[in-house]
Amino acid sequence: MTVESLKVTPQEFKLSDTVKKKIAKILEASDKDPKNLIQILQDIQTEFNYLPEIVIGYIAKEMNMSEHNIYGVATFYSQFKFIEPGKHQIRVCMGTACHVLGAQSLQDKISRELNIQPGETTEDGEFSIESVYCLGCCALAPVMVIDENVYGNMTAAKVNKILRKYRRNKKNLTKKSQEVK
Ligand code: FES
Repeated sequence: MTVESLKVTPQEFKLSDTVKKKIAKILEASDKDPKNLIQILQDIQTEFNYLPEIVIGYIAKEMNMSEHNIYGVATFYSQFKFIEPGKHQIRVCMGTACHVLGAQSLQDKISRELNIQPGETTEDGEFSIESVYCLGCCALAPVMVIDENVYGNMTAAKVNKILRKYRRNKKNLTKKSQEVK
C-alpha cells in the first residue's frame, strides 16, 4: 500500500478552527511526543472516526515529523482507517466459526451488491464494509453487524433484503425532510 493510495476520501474533510482545537487538545495531552504517536492516532480516530489526510498533514507539522513517518506507523496497525466510514458500517465476521459456515461467500455477495471491497466506502458515503475477527456471538455464525444491529445465521441470499431496509430508511428520511419543508 502506498501513501498516495491512502489519500482518497469520499468527502472533503475541512480543517476548521473547531477541528484544530480538538487536535490541539489531543496533542497537548500527549505532549506532542513522537513516542506517543499511536495514542495520538487512536485519539484522532476516536474523534473523527478515521484518520483524515489533512489531519495527518497537520499533526506532522505540529509534531515536527514527516507525513511519511506517520503513515509508516499508522499503516502498520489494522485498527487505523484512512477512508471515511460510510453512514452505515457493515462488519462481516471472518472468524473461524463464521468462516467455516460461509462468511466468505457472504462477504463476496455484499461486495458485489455495493461494488466495494472490505475497507472501502461507497461513493455516496452510505455504506462501508469491514472484515472483523469474531464478534463474540459464534453460536449465530455466520454473523454480520450493520451499525449496532446483529444479523446471525446469515446467508448470501438474505443480503439484498437486509440492505434494502437500510436503503429504504434513507428514502424515508428524505421523504420526512421534504414533508417538514
Ligand atoms: S467467529 Fe464469528 S462471531 Fe465468533
